[in-house]
Amino acid sequence: MRHLMSPLDFSVEELDALLDLANDIEKHPEKYAHACAGKKLATCFYEPSTRTRLSFEAAMLNLGGSVLGFSSADSSSAAKGESVSDTIRVISCYADICAMRHPKEGAPLVASQKSTIPVINAGDGGHQHPTQTLTDLLTIRSLKGELGNITIGLCGDLKFGRTVHSLIHALIRYPNVRFVLISPEELRVPSYIREDVLEANHISYTEVERLEDAMPELDILYMTRVQKERFFNEEEYIRLKDFYVLTKSKMELAKKDMLVLHPLPRVNEISVEVDDDPRAAYFRQAQYGVYVRMALILTLLGITVE
Ligand code: NCD
Repeated sequence: MRHLMSPLDFSVEELDALLDLANDIEKHPEKYAHACAGKKLATCFYEPSTRTRLSFEAAMLNLGGSVLGFSSADSSSAAKGESVSDTIRVISCYADICAMRHPKEGAPLVASQKSTIPVINAGDGGHQHPTQTLTDLLTIRSLKGELGNITIGLCGDLKFGRTVHSLIHALIRYPNVRFVLISPEELRVPSYIREDVLEANHISYTEVERLEDAMPELDILYMTRVQKERFFNEEEYIRLKDFYVLTKSKMELAKKDMLVLHPLPRVNEISVEVDDDPRAAYFRQAQYGVYVRMALILTLLGITVE
């Protein structure tokens, strides 16, 4: 039985197969409409979410399966003091696969060790968010044609943003990927990623503070929200929250075929006037998130469709 805790749980070849499957689902959704008939997905969300939870649910429903779960710690037995280990043992009796989001780093991993069904990490604190990374990889590969040979700017809260951490881990496995890390000093990528991931693997990266300076060289701009819920100090959040705002005039500095991605939810970091720019790909990205989660559910359940 397999779980998904980190994007590195799949080899590059396995990831290629998963993304191929997602593209096939996109082209021929009807082929997969009953693939999970009789199967149940549990969504155990101890932290708020719209996209991730609903896209998992949509994915399972598109496959003909059904869904059950909870969407906040308050509405689950966690409020009574139950541990994730006990909760997952019980959920294992009710469902065939579980997607879990938790504010504590490592909680889905603890759950997976006690689980008798596949567990998917749907975001653990500021640590990892592997299914967002699968979504990002599918979006980049589908719209750019390949995952290598890109200069990607990661902009915003690179300290607490788990989507950024997971994406860096995943992208260093492809050839000729350059990172431009765009953040204020206070929200730089943690040193355990800069040193142990980028430097240890001799990956080319630069760190800049001004988005305008980075813009002209980027093939992809990955914008992120300042992660309010991970700040200890509200004043600090208020000071940093509008540090970056992507506007139409900044888009004029970019390549004609640059893509703008964002895991969403957006707060102020992308002005709504950018939404009509053909390079704005964040809503298409949300659609890819459903296809890739369908592919993931099929893969972890070991279901093949001819
Ligand atoms: C991201 C997350 O939860 O980390 N959202 C998502 O899953 N699409 C990004 C965020 O909340 O900023």
